[in-house]
This record gives sequence, structure tokens and C-alpha cells, in this order.
Amino acid sequence: MAHLKSQTGLFLLACGLSGGLALSGLRPGQDQDVRLDQSSQSGQASLDPFRRQEAQQDCWDIPADKLANLTRSELDLLPHICWKPELEASLQAPLPRRGIPEGLDCDQTQWCDENGYCSTICKRGSVRIEPWLKNAIKTQMTLTKRQPYCYSTVLGSHNSAISLADGYGNLDPYFQQYFKWIKWVSSDAKFETDNQILSLTDQLNLGLRNVELDTHWVQGSLRIAHCGGLHSDFDILIQSINVIAKLLGHPIQWDTETVGCDPSLSSIPVLEQRLLHDALSEVRAWLDSPENAGEFLVIYFDDQIDLQAWGVVSTLLTEILSLYPAEQIFTPADLLVAGGVWPSMDQLVAAGKRVSFTSGTDYGTAMAPIIFDRSQICGWVEPSLEQLLGEPTCAEAGGYAHGGKTLSGQIFRTISCELYYGPFNCNFYWQSDNQPLLDELTLPGVSRCGLNVPCPDRVTPMRVASSMWSWAEGHPTSLPPQSGTSQHPSQHPTQPAATNRASSSSQSTPTGAVISWVAHGLRQLWQHAWPPAAAQMLEADNAGGGCAALSASDGRWREVSCDAGLPSACWLANSTWSVAAVPRGACPQGSGTRVPAHAKENTALQAAVRTANKDAAFLPIQGPTWAIP
Ligand SMILES: *[C@@H]1O[C@H](CO)[C@@H](O)[C@H](O)[C@H]1NC(C)=O
Ligand SMILES: *[C@@H]1O[C@H](CO)[C@@H](O)[C@H](O)[C@H]1NC(C)=O
Repeated sequence: MAHLKSQTGLFLLACGLSGGLALSGLRPGQDQDVRLDQSSQSGQASLDPFRRQEAQQDCWDIPADKLANLTRSELDLLPHICWKPELEASLQAPLPRRGIPEGLDCDQTQWCDENGYCSTICKRGSVRIEPWLKNAIKTQMTLTKRQPYCYSTVLGSHNSAISLADGYGNLDPYFQQYFKWIKWVSSDAKFETDNQILSLTDQLNLGLRNVELDTHWVQGSLRIAHCGGLHSDFDILIQSINVIAKLLGHPIQWDTETVGCDPSLSSIPVLEQRLLHDALSEVRAWLDSPENAGEFLVIYFDDQIDLQAWGVVSTLLTEILSLYPAEQIFTPADLLVAGGVWPSMDQLVAAGKRVSFTSGTDYGTAMAPIIFDRSQICGWVEPSLEQLLGEPTCAEAGGYAHGGKTLSGQIFRTISCELYYGPFNCNFYWQSDNQPLLDELTLPGVSRCGLNVPCPDRVTPMRVASSMWSWAEGHPTSLPPQSGTSQHPSQHPTQPAATNRASSSSQSTPTGAVISWVAHGLRQLWQHAWPPAAAQMLEADNAGGGCAALSASDGRWREVSCDAGLPSACWLANSTWSVAAVPRGACPQGSGTRVPAHAKENTALQAAVRTANKDAAFLPIQGPTWAIP
């Protein structure tokens, strides 16, 4: 009995539900869309012109038998819903959610929820990493583990455990389909609630050493859960989605019945959100693996004051201690014994310490036996990416506009977020993008500037490769024997074309900061092409020679012939570089050979090579071991 409704019909329906009184103040001639807005009580008052535009569509009467089962509050949401029975058939086909991006090499498996909705994901620990990248990660870890912890640089990830590999965001494509029935959401809006796609194990295998666990008290247990504050527009979206699912007779619901997490920001049934214990066990197993015996991690609980409100801070400590022997944890008391000075990761591991814990919320003495307040870890602060002052000056001055220089003894951790909740971005801004991002375009520059802990979303081998500042892709061509595995080049490209990203960014309406970051990315690309293909010439002329040189073009290290006519990188007493035309490995008096100890030293050496008008300079490392002296 459904018949096509006009816009006016919709408007009447809306009025019918929330009472005609809202109309009384309207002047004649005011358009219906405005009246539609004003006629609804539940958050629509804030609807902006974008939404009104998208309301111009044909909607049908919802059959009475379907309406019969709706509650009063569900009926109140009908003004948001555009009933389109003709689309129902196309919905029934199952949509496999593909959690494995193009070019990522791993063993596929499925994650399925209790209702049988599934995602294709990488089996935990199965992501294959190209040998050169594995070696570059190891090289940079070797260097950074020697630095006092406050001068270390490690990759982290944002909301590390909110991963599709564990089902977070599993239902996104199903819910996204319901956008076709919501008036003010464009049907191609993205619904992406998984920050990560790989397991914690794979992230750690990729060299991440700063793990963020979103920890909340949910249904009587500490669970990994992405919980937000109140977002009234988002709540209306979620409630509308649930009404549509009910009208369509689908078993899925966006589960909001959580304690301490209402609503959950991930599309996963509440009770299928993994226990914190499970996530901590996964990390523990990784630390226990013999090849990781020399590794030290920081585990960061992104939590809220609710843990204290629920009186479960002690539960958090108990769970930690049930999995991690106390003597392996570097604690606030240990720091006191060390005179308040953080040792290097090498020193920590040598003392039997494997892990430190920190919390986003300071629970004071309740957590003090084990968990640091962030500020106790080298003054840890979390400025946004917009504030980072990047190249070309970062080797000397790089840092944050209002926060100080990178690699000066304070830990800077910077996140970026790629979630979309339909028309809302990660911060619940209406129709905004999430720029700037830590991604393949920006990570090269961010890493070169010595940001301690960049934490991107969607960590993949490609993304990690883009954060490397030491060995160039494919170098050294003869890998050290211990890095094992095959040396066959991957059949997949490791660097997705950055230009694609640049052009897609330009379609949005970027802020000044975004423009500067896009420009920054383009400058990067340009820099890589100048001096004219020096890196390629270096490779062609000197391929596979058993020695290493830093290229002026991009600051990356390449294997070259030991007989190449190149100068050497020499380190002066005043902590600057000179590029000396001396026999390889022999530096002039008053200077010595040195491998750049961190990214900014590396960037400074690149600048020195350019100033000397050379294509490259020898580094004091050699095959076959490529050991760092
Ligand atoms: C309404 O609810 C009843 C009882 O749960 C169910 O049997 C019936 O199929 C529902 N009707 C519709 C149209 O969903
Ligand atoms: C460091 O020492 C070298 C050689 O003595 C000198 O040329 C250079 O200007 C000095 N740099 C700084 C920043 O002091």
C-alpha cells in the first residue's frame, strides 16, 4: 500500500510526530526544509544546510505492519528516515569486509561475529615483511635503543587494539548500507570505525614499540573498547541505523548497551569486544618470543576517569601483574632509584626490564606502584600534527610551534585518526576530513624531523616503510645473514603512489594546515627528484659493492662499491658533520667516523653532503654484517 510521498508529505510526517507547534512562528513562504528542521526536537535543530540539501529525495510510506513493532522513541526517529523499499533486495547480498589492503602479503582468515557477519583479515602474526624493511627497522631500533629513552624514536599506533583483526569495525559495511535510508547522510559517506587493520602482534613485528590500549570497564570486565563522550548528532545517526535495521528485519544492531561506554564507537557487539587480559596476553606472548628478547615496550592505557569511578584501578593493576612479572616492569619507583633519569632501552633490557605502563588518566597513588603518569615519561606530551614544524629546517630547529624541539629530551607523541562515522570525521565534525594524517605522504618528513612517537592509524608494512629514514628501499642489496628469510624482491610495490593521495586531498576543502602539509608532501616528492636522479646514478654506478653511502637526494643509505669516488661522513668535536674528501673510513684529525645516531643527525648529514656539492658520502658500515659500530 506504499505510495510515493512528496517533500511536503515528509514534512507533515515530521510535524505529526513532534507536534505542529513548532510551525506557529514561521512566516509564510519559508521553505519546507527549514520547517522540517524546526519541527523535530531530537537534535535536528542543529542540522545545517548540507543536510537540508540531502533531504531532497523521494521517500515512501513505511508499511504499517513494520511500524507496529517500533517503540515510541524509535517512532520519534522516523523524520530522519527515508523509506526506499526498492533498495531492500540489493541489501540482502552478504558483503564481505575486506580487511587486507592491496599489496599486503599475509595469510588470510575470517573474523566472524556471533550473528555470522564476517571480515577477511590477516591471520595474527602472518604479515610478511620485506627483508630490506625488516633490516631497516632493526637498524633504526639498534640505534635508538642506545639513546637515553627520552631521546628515542619509535613508531607507535593510534588506538592500537581497535583493530579489524579482532573484529572492531566488522559491521561497518553493513551499517554503511543503511545510509541510503537516512535523509541527511549521503549514501556514499564512509563508515570506518577500525583504527587498525593488523593485529597487535603484526604491529609489533613491524617495529612498533608504543602500544595504545583503549581500556574501559564494560559489562563487568576491563575490555578493549573505543568509548567517546556524548555526541548528540552521532547518537541520532546510530539510533536511526538501529531503527532501519529493525524495519528491514536484520539481526544487527549498533550495540549501545554498555556500562561505562555508551555508545561504543566501534561496530562490534559489546560482549565481543576483547578482554584487556586477552590483549595484554597477546603482547606478553610477543615479548616472550625468543627473537624479541632484547625488546622494550611502552604500553599506554587510553582510559577515562570512569575506571576510578567504578573502583577498578586495582583490577587493572591485578591484571597487569597476572601477566607481567613485577621484576620485568620498569616502574615509577625504579625511575626514582635511577635518579629520575630514564636509561636507554638497551640499559633497561640489560637490567631485565621489558615494559613500562602509562595511563592517559592520572589515578594518583592507586596506580603509582606500576603505572606512570604520562608526564613522568620524559615530559610526554601529545601535540597535534598541524603543530609540527617540518622540513626544510627541521634538522636544526624541528619541533612544535609552541612546544619545543624534537629530540631535545622531551617525548612527543602525535596521533592521527582516519575514522569516519558517516558524515562525521574522527572528531565528530560534520563533513570534515581528517587531514593532516600520518601516512605515506607525511611520514617520511615527520620521521626525518625526529618526532619521537608518530602514531598513525591503519599501520601496514607500506606505511612503516614510509617512516624509515635509514636504509633506502631494497638496500643493502646483500642483506646480513641473520635477517634470514628470502631476499626475493616482493611482487608488490612497497610505496603506494603518493600523488594519488595528494590529488584526493585537493578535492576537499583543506584548512591552511592541510594545505601546508600537502605542499610539504609535494616538496618531498620534488626533493626526491633532485639533484637529478643522483640516487639512481649512485645505484647504477656502484651497485652491490659492500659499502654504504648516504645519498644527498633523500638522505637514505644505499649499498655502493667500496671503490666509489665518494667523500666520507665525519663527525666533528662540536657535534656537526663535515664531508671530507679523504680515503674511505679515514677522517681528518679532530673528527671521527660516525653513523647518524638518529633521524635529525641523518638529516643534518644529508644537508652537509649537499652543501659539499656531493651526491653521497660513505658511512662507516660494511657488508656482509652491516653492523652498526
Ligand atoms: C513484530 O514483532 C513480532 C514479535 O517479536 C514478530 O513476530 C514480528 O515478525 C514483527 N513484525 C515485523 C513486521 O517485524
Ligand atoms: C664546528 O667546527 C668546525 C671545524 O672546526 C667549524 O668549521 C664549524 O663552523 C663549527 N660549527 C659550529 C656550529 O660551531
